[in-house]
Amino acid sequence: MDTKVKVLDSNNLDKGILEEIAQVIKDKGLVAFPTETVYGLGANALDEEAVTKIFLAKGRPQDNPLIVHIGDLEGIIPLVKNIPEVAKVLMERFWPGPMTIILEKTSLIPDVTSAGLKSIGIRMPKSIIARNIIKAAGVPIAAPSANISGRPSPTDIERCIEDLKGKIEYIVGGEVSEVGLESTIIDCTVTPPCVLRPGGITLEMLREIDENIYIDKAIMKKPEKDFKPKAPGMKYRHYAPKASVKIISGELQKTIAKINEIVQTYIDEGKKVGIMATEETKDRYKGALVISLGSRNNLNSIGKNLFETLRAFDDNKVDIILSEAFEEVGFGIAIMNRLKKSAGFNIIDV
Ligand code: TXA
Ligand code: MG
Repeated sequence: MDTKVKVLDSNNLDKGILEEIAQVIKDKGLVAFPTETVYGLGANALDEEAVTKIFLAKGRPQDNPLIVHIGDLEGIIPLVKNIPEVAKVLMERFWPGPMTIILEKTSLIPDVTSAGLKSIGIRMPKSIIARNIIKAAGVPIAAPSANISGRPSPTDIERCIEDLKGKIEYIVGGEVSEVGLESTIIDCTVTPPCVLRPGGITLEMLREIDENIYIDKAIMKKPEKDFKPKAPGMKYRHYAPKASVKIISGELQKTIAKINEIVQTYIDEGKKVGIMATEETKDRYKGALVISLGSRNNLNSIGKNLFETLRAFDDNKVDIILSEAFEEVGFGIAIMNRLKKSAGFNIIDV
C-alpha cells in the first residue's frame, strides 16, 4: 500500500490536509497521528471493519481493547452509559490531556473496539493536531499506539514511518510527543476508581480529586503465570527493543559501579553494550554506548526520551541495554512501569 506522509503545523493547520485525513477515516482507512503521549494509529471507532484493520496492521492480539479518542467533552456522551460524579470531575480537571477513563460502553461502540468488554476507555488528547483530526473526521477515533505490537511506542513521525509505512493509508506528523509515555488509565466503573496503567497524570494528581484512588498493585510486579490483568494489554510483552534490557536498581554510586562491572563481562563475551544513563552519570561509564535520558531532576525529560532511546539503541545494534532505575514516585511510577516491562522484569538490585 502507498502510504501518504504529511506534516501539519499545529499553529497553522492546513485545512486541505485535514480534509484529506478525515476522508481516509470516513473511508474506513488507517491514519497514524501525533498525540501528546505517543503517536496513535487511528480508525473510525464506530466501524467494525475499520477497527479490525488496526489489529491487523499492528499484529495486535484481538483480546486487547482500544482507547477511543474524542475531540471535545461532549463527544463522550453517546459513547458511555453513565458518568459517575468522580469521572466528571476527573474529565473536567485533566482533559484535554494524558488520561483515559474506563466507563461502561453503549451499543454504539462495536465489540471489536472494546475487545468484547462491556467497558471502554475514552480519552480527549491535548494535542491540537489530534483533536482537529477527530473533529474533521466527525467520528470518535480508536487509536492504540502507532507501533508494531510489542515494540516501544513511537513519539515522533520517523518511528511511525519505520513501523507502519506501506501498511496504512496515512502518516501525519507535526510534533514530538511531549509526555512520551501512554496515558494514565483509570477505571471509573469501580469505586473508588483504580489506576490500571500509570502515566502523565500521576497518582498524586488524581488523589487531589479523590484521595481513595489507588494503583492496581499487580501492575508494577512481574506477572504470575495465568495472571489476568484488568487492562488486558498489560499482560503482553511490551515496549521491548530488539536488544535485551536489564535494570540495575539501588543507590546511585553502587549502580554505576555494578553497571561498569557488568559491561566488562559482556565486552569479554564480544557483545556490544548500551547504557541508559542520566546527565548526572553519563560520564562515569566506559566501554559502552552511553545515552542520557536527561537529568534525574527532571523526570519529564526521562519519560519523554525513554521509548526513543530504546529504539536508538536498536539503531546502533547493541546486544544488551543496561539501564539505571528511577524512584517510583510521581511520574517515576510510569517510567519504571514501562522500563520494567521493556526489561521483562529483569532487575538486578545492588
Ligand atoms: O496515550 C495513549 O493512551 C495512547 C495514545 C495513542 O492515545 N494509546 C494507547 O493505546 O496507549 P494502547 O492500545 O497502546 O493501550 C491501550 C491500553 C491497553 O493496555 C488496554 O488493555 C487498555 O488500554 N484498555 C483499553 N480499554 C480497556 C478497558 N475497557 N478496560 C481495561 N483496559 C482497557
Ligand atoms: Mg501500545
